[in-house]
Amino acid sequence: MILRLTIGAVVLATLTHAQFDASQCGQTKGCLFAPPGCTPSTDCQIYFSYQVQNGQTMLIEISGRPANPQAGYVAVGFSKDSSMGDDSVTACVTNQGQTSAILGYTAGKSLQIKQSSVQTAVNTANQNGYVDCVVRRQLGNTGDKEIFDLNGTYIILLATGPVGADGAPGYHGETKWVMPRTDVASYGTDAQGNVIMRDSNGQTGGSKHSTNDKLKIAHVFIFTGILFARHFRGHWPDTTFLGVKMWFNFHRTLNMIGVGMTIAAFVLIFVANDWRWTGPKAFATKEENQAWSSIHSILGLLACVVAWAQPLNAVFRCDHDSKARPIFNMIHRFFGFSAWLMAVAATMIAVVHFNGMFSNRDAALGLYIAFVAVAGLTLIVLEVIWIRNWFAARRGVSNEMEMVRVGAGTGGVVLREDVQKIHRLQMAILLLYLVCAIGLAVAICVLIGLKPGDLA
Ligand SMILES: *[C@@H]1O[C@H](CO)[C@@H](O)[C@H](O)[C@H]1NC(C)=O
Repeated sequence: MILRLTIGAVVLATLTHAQFDASQCGQTKGCLFAPPGCTPSTDCQIYFSYQVQNGQTMLIEISGRPANPQAGYVAVGFSKDSSMGDDSVTACVTNQGQTSAILGYTAGKSLQIKQSSVQTAVNTANQNGYVDCVVRRQLGNTGDKEIFDLNGTYIILLATGPVGADGAPGYHGETKWVMPRTDVASYGTDAQGNVIMRDSNGQTGGSKHSTNDKLKIAHVFIFTGILFARHFRGHWPDTTFLGVKMWFNFHRTLNMIGVGMTIAAFVLIFVANDWRWTGPKAFATKEENQAWSSIHSILGLLACVVAWAQPLNAVFRCDHDSKARPIFNMIHRFFGFSAWLMAVAATMIAVVHFNGMFSNRDAALGLYIAFVAVAGLTLIVLEVIWIRNWFAARRGVSNEMEMVRVGAGTGGVVLREDVQKIHRLQMAILLLYLVCAIGLAVAICVLIGLKPGDLA
């Protein structure tokens, strides 16, 4: 009963959201709605449209449902990157029965209100839980670096939040979305009154893509490197390269490549964010620090730091025959595995909680779960084989290596038939893992890449 009443009320509220006309979207004006994938006049929280008029001005409509429609705002930010800070903002603010459109600029995380005739309000409304503003913005050079000329392409940020005691827009929390890079001058009419026809999908590759690609591929390298140390020690027993056994060469080389890639990815992340740390800060609010992005950042950093420390602690490992060597082995394994787990958790947070990162979030989530499952399964299967082997060895049936005289004088280490079989099985599992993991990683990267315009 209550549910039905609520549904009825919601339907009524949406039906009476008469201000925003979505029927012209993609015809005479361009529109973006948040959350991505929502259906206008059913489950969208923010409506934004843009239209150039006679090549001179841009008509902007920003509308939506703040959690508190009596003291809340919806806002659109025009950004050169996908994070908040250095954005030109148009906000529709309702407070104490008054609705007004404001022009602003975000310096860091705080919004500065700009007084300028570049933007004029055409209409403001507050009805049925919706706030709605239509404004006109002058195109061309505004003469103020903090008021962007909207005649071009920007990453669109949409947000809704409460109004503070001072009447100014407050922190939006999780209700903010990074929309695709959009040519906001691609709809409307030009100076001669002709309809503007322009390809509005200015897709660009970006550093964030390659960051993700690198981290994902680093993941495969490191995981494979770990597998070599754990399960491939007995392979190629008498082949050495640079004075060490082959498994160690694989282990060291793969993990070094992986660590190198995480370092490169980290540098790219910081460059992409203008060297700003997006993780927890001592002076940030509780909401900000608890935000998923903070948890993601701190987990990611921890995972990388632990991964980077691994080769360092390996340098100081004690001698092969030392009594303390098993302790080193345990610590090294523990940190290796925990770094991997933290990286998995950090990535999972990104996939589940970061809006607008993938062209299809559900597909990305499915692929990533498959990616982790393949790795987990590989680990378990190899571990089972290892345990079986270990029991066999304890029963004294198997001595892994046998000296066999092959011809005269070529006394090499030859592996017994059944041991060779196990090695072939392990190799097959490893190859299967690599094929699956690389395939899935590529698929996820394609999903990130398909997302129209991430970072330039
Ligand atoms: C907008 O940009 C186009 C080129 O992209 C240019 O031809 C036009 O003059 C610009 N309009 C204004 C008002 O600056």
